[in-house]
Amino acid sequence: MAHISAHAHRKDEHVFLAEKNYPQTQNNDFDQVRFIHQSLPEIAVDEVDLTTNFAGQKIPFPFYINAMTGGSPRTQRLNQQLATLAKRFSLPMATGSQSVALKEPTTAASFQIVRQANPHGMILANLGADATVTQAQHAIAMLKADALQIHLNLPQEIVMPEGQRRFYWLTNLAKLKTALPVPVIVKEVGFGMSQETLQQLRSIGIEHVDLGGRGGTNFVTIENQRRRFKEFNYLENWGQSTVESLLESRAMQADLNIYASGGVRQPLDIIKALALGAQAVGVSGTILHSLQKNGLDATSQLLQAWCQQLKLLMALLGCRQVKALTHCQLIFSPELMNYIHQRHIK
Ligand code: FNR
Repeated sequence: MAHISAHAHRKDEHVFLAEKNYPQTQNNDFDQVRFIHQSLPEIAVDEVDLTTNFAGQKIPFPFYINAMTGGSPRTQRLNQQLATLAKRFSLPMATGSQSVALKEPTTAASFQIVRQANPHGMILANLGADATVTQAQHAIAMLKADALQIHLNLPQEIVMPEGQRRFYWLTNLAKLKTALPVPVIVKEVGFGMSQETLQQLRSIGIEHVDLGGRGGTNFVTIENQRRRFKEFNYLENWGQSTVESLLESRAMQADLNIYASGGVRQPLDIIKALALGAQAVGVSGTILHSLQKNGLDATSQLLQAWCQQLKLLMALLGCRQVKALTHCQLIFSPELMNYIHQRHIK
């Protein structure tokens, strides 16, 4: 077997553990939100337009393949399959963090395969919040990327023995945003965001945010399982769910382009996130699970069905455009109402 480095091995472990733990949370907050059924919507399915805006581009479906992987031979194959799906359905796609490719240039091919497989698609580069401008420029050039995701993953770093221990990120984010020629999306990795975080991001001029909430892939669980003594079991519920994060973002949805991800299992979750104000919705774990369990063709059929079902669900709700979903009344569970009151969300 070819030698792979500790960094590359970690990427394989993430994929293995994400799949092993799927679905990570039994109680997903999307189930705490309901629509009101209307029997006479006066609409035809053909009238539904699923286009939306994502990081400065118009996209045909309101969801994208969110950051997952790259860095090893095995993840190169996964990236190729993900890119094939992205191309087939014109979905934007982010690669996993490219910091491994900056440290070990021989692994760059496992990311570049995404551009090779999808030469004209919308591709997002991905790095951590401590990346320098030069590193970010390299990551973007590596993929001819259309945008750059910068991930915020504090709880993950805390649980990793080899994780960072200094968390001064804000000034660097401002620097990246100013210096780079493509849109910068600041994203969480499954712990969600708060009003306060969003205000900080807005204050430095960030325009695009992926809330990356709790409810799906959980990097405290994953990193905990990589530790010998799994000391951080008690942190597994840390963070805001995707629904809570969308509620947190409410007051800022006019000033920030909000995207949502974390725990999306099927098209109704996408529709709920859009109704809560997301402009587009990211999916990682569910697509990874389908690919690993059922293969490329079955996952392609699944995504085909999602694209059709999104249209049907919009018709069910009487909405011709994605934006119109934000006018649907939502009914929240008592637990979410409690959250809304305690966080003074209007
Ligand atoms: C991720 N995610 C991720 N995010 C990121 O910004 N950089 C990365 O390198 C990775 N790596 C990664 C590996 C694997 C195997 C998974 C499943 C996920 C996080 C991902 O983009 C997303 O924010 C979370 O997974 C939550 O969404 P889901 O999985 O619940 O849909």
